Amino acid sequence: MVKGKLELVICGAAGGIGQPLSLLLKQSDLISHLALFDVVNAPGVAADLSHINTKSTVTGHGKDQMDEAMKGAHTVVIPAGVPRKPGMSRDDLFKINAGIVRDLAEGVAKNCPGANVLVISNPVNSTVPIVCEVLKQHGVFNPRKVFGVSTLDAVRASRFSFETNSSIPPSSRVTVVGGHSGTTIVPLLSQLPNNFVGSLSKEELEKLTYRIQFGGDEVVKAKDGAGSATLSMAFAGARFTLAVLQATVGGKTGLIESTYVNLAADADATREFKAKTGLEYFAQDVEFGPEGVQRIVPLPTLSAYEQGLLEVAVKELKVNITKGTAFITDNS
Ligand code: NAD
Ligand code: LMR
Repeated sequence: MVKGKLELVICGAAGGIGQPLSLLLKQSDLISHLALFDVVNAPGVAADLSHINTKSTVTGHGKDQMDEAMKGAHTVVIPAGVPRKPGMSRDDLFKINAGIVRDLAEGVAKNCPGANVLVISNPVNSTVPIVCEVLKQHGVFNPRKVFGVSTLDAVRASRFSFETNSSIPPSSRVTVVGGHSGTTIVPLLSQLPNNFVGSLSKEELEKLTYRIQFGGDEVVKAKDGAGSATLSMAFAGARFTLAVLQATVGGKTGLIESTYVNLAADADATREFKAKTGLEYFAQDVEFGPEGVQRIVPLPTLSAYEQGLLEVAVKELKVNITKGTAFITDNS
């Protein structure tokens, strides 16, 4: 198998997210080898993508070939697992996806223990603790290198804010803290410029916030049993992955995205928050550096409305985090 200088593995590469995400990442010159792993159809997707005339070599790896796909990888992106159907919560996916993510984390620990791990599979609030606990068990956990990809919340927040008031450019970055499910998603719209929040009525602000928190449901309902967000997620996943790569190998500084991380990634910056909330994981703005998380950006001053949202989020996050952590610690 051809091995390049920077190998990026996509686990679940033949899926609804995996295919467009692979296509977007095939366009990056930062990647020299794109390894596509899936339990079905990975060789077919790889053969198709491999004809695109960009720098990276593409290889496909089926069911029993996780180890060869991951060997020595720099970054592993995980959109493997089942998506929601109407009426389901993300937590309902735990039963199936927890085991899938655990096995992939075992693969990372064995084959590429120093890799950045970008977790897309839901429920992200619990699957990220699963990955971290597996890596801890193998003695290879680096909190600066495990990320829950919650970028789609920020993408939605920008787009929906623009739809509400076109003075906010659709490309503006919105900080979204908390987690990645319903009321754990806390968009900090008060940070937007031009007195954006001040221009909204209380009802408009509540409606916009609700739409950002439950944007995933809109897609699940519209797809009517055929899955959840895939194309917008691929866009968000590529944006996040490229930011990590640009900082870790591209030498870029100052790149910031909101992402769900273990707060030990920047213990000094988060000590007070951790003591106050009891949370070990939280989505917050993170600045990337050569080793992954460079720093966790301190929370800005929240409005009273956002403070209320945060209190609700913290309660639910605790349950989600405990569930993910216990899945590994209680079963070992
Ligand atoms: P999908 O069913 O279309 O694709 C999932 C792929 O994973 C399939 O190709 C499947 O064969 C593969 N797979 C299953 N088990 C595997 C294993 N053990 N190893 C490797 N591959 C395996 O689903 P999708 O729409 O691409 O969604 C994937 C996941 O991403 C879901 O859990 C979904 O809820 C989640 N998601 C997260 C976000 C987010 O913002 N973080 C957004 C959208 C979807
Ligand atoms: C999303 O936010 O679109 C994803 O988490 C998928 C889902 O289940 O809603």
